[in-house]
Amino acid sequence: MSIKPVLKMGDPRLLEVARKVEKFRTPELEALICDMHETMEALDGAGLAAPQIGVGLQVVIFGVKRNPRYPDAEDVPYTVLVNPVLTPLTKNMEQGWEGCLSVPGMRGVVPRFAKVRYQGLDQYGKTIDRSVDGFHARVVQHECDHLQGILYPMRMTDFRTFGFTDVLFPDHAPMAE
Ligand code: NI
Repeated sequence: MSIKPVLKMGDPRLLEVARKVEKFRTPELEALICDMHETMEALDGAGLAAPQIGVGLQVVIFGVKRNPRYPDAEDVPYTVLVNPVLTPLTKNMEQGWEGCLSVPGMRGVVPRFAKVRYQGLDQYGKTIDRSVDGFHARVVQHECDHLQGILYPMRMTDFRTFGFTDVLFPDHAPMAE
């Protein structure tokens, strides 16, 4: 398995709608998830969607361990989520900083639903059904957007907050992805 190049904004593959995974426990799916995991770890991201490494399937991974570099980021359990369905549990939107491995070196403020329920399957086809809020909810919405061909700048409402990470945050930047 290997670290894959991450597609950057401008690549038309990032704008496609991903297909559902039909078969579980296949070597192809296992290899994909392994590559995604290695790539996310190598780039120190909070999440990654399969289309970002050029695979148009509904697979996302995410997870954040408490990290002194990101004192504000809450713990998010490491999760492999396949064929996800997202349901907002509130109309409340929260503004928060986001970055994306496909938009390197940038950050922007993005409105997201404060609480969501997500349902889907893990890599073995086992059901996942969680209701979450805060940073966990933000990360899931960001990753699931990738499966619809949506990048976070397309969700932004105030472009005055869009900028280069090192200029916006000379000391330490909020978590990307
Ligand atoms: Ni992203």
